[in-house]
Amino acid sequence: MSLRYAFLLFAAVIPGILSAQNPVKESTGFYQFESDDPNQKPFFSDRQGLLAKNGMVATAHPDASKVGVEILKAGGNAVDAAVSVQFALAVVHPSAGNLGGGGFLLFRDKTGKTNSIDFREKGPGKSHADMYLDKDGNIIAKSSTLGRLASGVPGSVAGMVEAHGKYGSLQWKQLLQPAIDLAEKGVILTEREARGLNAVKKDLITLNPGTKYFLNPSGKDWVAGDLLVQKDLGKVLRRIQRKGRDGFYTGKTARRLVKDINKNNEGIISKKDLADYQAQWRETITEDYKGYKVITMAPPSSGGIALLQLMRLTEPHPLRKWGWHSDSTIQVMIEAERRVYADRAKFLGDPDFVKVPAETLMSKNYLQSRWADFDWNKATDSKNVKGGVFPGYESLETTHFSIVDKEGNAVSLTTTLNGGYGSRVVIKGGGFFMNNEMDDFSIKAGAPNMYGLIGNKANAIAPGKRMLSSMTPTIIEKDGKLLMVVGTPGGSTIITSVYQTILNVLEHGMTIQQSVNALKFHHQWLPDKTTFEANAFSAGAIKKLQDKGYILEQQRNTIGRMDCILVLPDGSLEGGSDPRGDDTSIGY
Ligand code: DON
Repeated sequence: MSLRYAFLLFAAVIPGILSAQNPVKESTGFYQFESDDPNQKPFFSDRQGLLAKNGMVATAHPDASKVGVEILKAGGNAVDAAVSVQFALAVVHPSAGNLGGGGFLLFRDKTGKTNSIDFREKGPGKSHADMYLDKDGNIIAKSSTLGRLASGVPGSVAGMVEAHGKYGSLQWKQLLQPAIDLAEKGVILTEREARGLNAVKKDLITLNPGTKYFLNPSGKDWVAGDLLVQKDLGKVLRRIQRKGRDGFYTGKTARRLVKDINKNNEGIISKKDLADYQAQWRETITEDYKGYKVITMAPPSSGGIALLQLMRLTEPHPLRKWGWHSDSTIQVMIEAERRVYADRAKFLGDPDFVKVPAETLMSKNYLQSRWADFDWNKATDSKNVKGGVFPGYESLETTHFSIVDKEGNAVSLTTTLNGGYGSRVVIKGGGFFMNNEMDDFSIKAGAPNMYGLIGNKANAIAPGKRMLSSMTPTIIEKDGKLLMVVGTPGGSTIITSVYQTILNVLEHGMTIQQSVNALKFHHQWLPDKTTFEANAFSAGAIKKLQDKGYILEQQRNTIGRMDCILVLPDGSLEGGSDPRGDDTSIGY
């Protein structure tokens, strides 16, 4: 197989495309793909990136991107826009956008200072390590994924209040208004959103008797173009608009949440859990990759450490020379992923509860030692890979967005209910979904969660503890300047999708949109197999890897729903939003 890629650096071509009169254009890619396998494709679609000069908002839904860009145009900064987008997504993209979930916001200001907020959900006061096991120690089916017991204490509203309090420039009230309008006046459903709601209709009816939330008033299934009006959600948003965090964590909304969750003793979130919830500012973690500064999220997300480990493990290998998706490139990336996910299972958890050996895990010496058992001729067996030793499918949804404002401040934010529509419980009188994030804890040592991820003591359930996440909001800078804002949903595949998207740009010369379009693959140590999107690998690469013992499985679903931004050499912004979803970049 010969794969040859030719690309011209956009540095040479793009400057001059934009003019002040017409600041928004589509970018064109200069990366060229050649393969001797006619069935192999580089991209999921040929979508072109969007270019703009002043600001860019890339989200999972066109209405949310519109909200973000309007806030930027009104003089808001990237954090203002992020707050507005987070609330808008709770209305227009209810499978993942949320009030009843949590997430991580990563921020880099125009001077290069970075910060992050952890607004991940927490284990309720009454939670305990064995809460999802029966008396024989077996997992009670679906207890951590469906229904009232599946929810952690939500963090999103607290996160937005913190973000706005520290960095916001517009009035809080103004930032809530677009979401309120969308809830009260209604959202026109896209085909994908209609399909998503229809798919969970049965659970909605079973779990929320006596309410009609998210059901079509006509009694029929939803179709694209239908109007979804959310009056109760609008009232909750108005309360948050008036009272900030008290509009959610105390008072009427909190009372309704606690009453609904504790109905028939089904769930355990208490008034105190809500009132006590605090989002946490965390120092970002930063490492160098070939002169690029990679800034990402610290624990309790595993994403940052895992991404930096992957990049460090990859660094000594000439991926650029080998080419995108050549068998050698794929092999090295799989072997790196296998080792990193084994470490994730062993070491990572909430740093407020367990000691996470972050520095060692990311150190060059340690990572070099992880290649010791690598054999070019043979796939490493995951059974023989353990976390390192050193002293010391139902619909899955999360959502990521990236924002850059005209000053160059950047936000990378990933938020989730965990599974699509979370626990499928909609708070009576509140009209918002609750998360099923408790499943991200290791509910039984060594047992896979809904993403097949294995965990251990470090990620065992405890009151007030945050469950380990894979969310990987990331920002990259070069020579002290903002270069890239990256992130995606996808459960365990988040980390590997972010890793590939970064390498596609830095190593393979793709534009950010091409990198988002590019077909993806994934390995997570256990189960010991590599899944890949249809047509991602050439027949030749597949044969070579299978001969070495790699188990390769073409995936029915797609991987990732990236929303990213790249700063071009002339300072203009390229938005890259995933054609696998309704994702849309809007700039101005
Ligand atoms: O925090 C995590 O890692 C998961 N709860 C994320 C879930 C997710 O990405 C689902 N989306 N496709």
